[in-house]
Amino acid sequence: MTDRVVLAYSGGLDTSAAIPFLAEKTGAEVVAVAVDVGQGGEDLEVIRTRALDCGAVESVVVDAREEFAADFCMPALRADALYMDRYPLLSALSRPLIAKHLAAAAVEFGGTHVAHGCTGKGNDQVRFEASLAALNPSLKVVAPARDYAWTRDKAIAFAAEKGLPIDTTKKSPYSIDQNLWGRAVETGFLEDIWNAPTEDVYSYTADPALPREPDEVVITFESGLPVALDGRRLTPFQIVAELNERAGAQGVGRIDMVEDRLVGIKSREVYEAPGATTLITAHMELENVTVERDLARFKRTVDQRWSELVYDGLWFSPLKRALDAFIDTGQRHVSGDIRMTLHGGRAVVTGRRSEASLYDFNLATYDTGDSFDQSLAKGFVELFSLPSKIASSRDARLG
Ligand code: ARG
Repeated sequence: MTDRVVLAYSGGLDTSAAIPFLAEKTGAEVVAVAVDVGQGGEDLEVIRTRALDCGAVESVVVDAREEFAADFCMPALRADALYMDRYPLLSALSRPLIAKHLAAAAVEFGGTHVAHGCTGKGNDQVRFEASLAALNPSLKVVAPARDYAWTRDKAIAFAAEKGLPIDTTKKSPYSIDQNLWGRAVETGFLEDIWNAPTEDVYSYTADPALPREPDEVVITFESGLPVALDGRRLTPFQIVAELNERAGAQGVGRIDMVEDRLVGIKSREVYEAPGATTLITAHMELENVTVERDLARFKRTVDQRWSELVYDGLWFSPLKRALDAFIDTGQRHVSGDIRMTLHGGRAVVTGRRSEASLYDFNLATYDTGDSFDQSLAKGFVELFSLPSKIASSRDARLG
């Protein structure tokens, strides 16, 4: 029986030309799998047919938009996930989901190998392969760009030679990855890290400096999950999509950073994540109101580790699962409303209300009605300072 290789297919030039290339190189039949994670663009049926026209024996498209939102973006939101305190992990979130559908297709269509288009310099090869290793360790991996130096130029030449029905004239100077949670842009003139991004880099966000009316939104959360916008109950996908539009129109969520890749390279990436930025800002503030202090402090450490694990491709790992259980426990009371003003590139919280609030007006107030007994503070401060005081006198004695 001929081997079958399941290819992570985007519909673009590189993975389209990779279909006959892989067949030629490996002697295997190619099964193309395209996954919709909210990246927009072409119709899924057009993409499905193109893979067949390029020589795939089977071609499947998976509408995974709600799954991506519910099972990948929402856990990231509950973890307030920002790698290096800034990057909302959009690419890192989609790879384990795509890997899951590749592994499922391998079972369905008898695939022995999986192929992806990542190079050997990036994080995404790690994310695909670490996910696949956890999901189905018997699958072998082929990565044409990495293993056979399959470049864009070769793809164009190969497509012309084989007469493939694909447009080889598209000439974006950037490498772009986009989905519901945001958009990542690199390469081209951005590789000089002194160069400022030009407006043409952006597509999810408008120029924050343009004059416009602010937008106000009320986001309702239940146990750490957003469930409504302005009182309208929506699915996670709908909520992120609407906030991408509304916050994007206000220029919210642009991030320009140099980041530490897992393979050891520092790289420059420009992100835009209007919906994710708005939701994480709102969620963090609702946690400030509803999560007990020590739990909140510890969660920040957990959130950071969670983000690093997911960045590093370890979505399906025991530690990530255990941290999810911790986060889940702590989200029980993260319920209520957050009001925000979206304007001038910022999403600013202006109000919060919650049945589960730990904010006690009578304890906090400086007006009359104060129920806080200030006389208790005197002894507390004295005992709290005692260890430092003793250490300090020891240090003075010994010089
Ligand atoms: N640097 C980001 C990450 O590792 C995005 C990777 C894909 N970026 C791109 N522009 N193609 O998660």
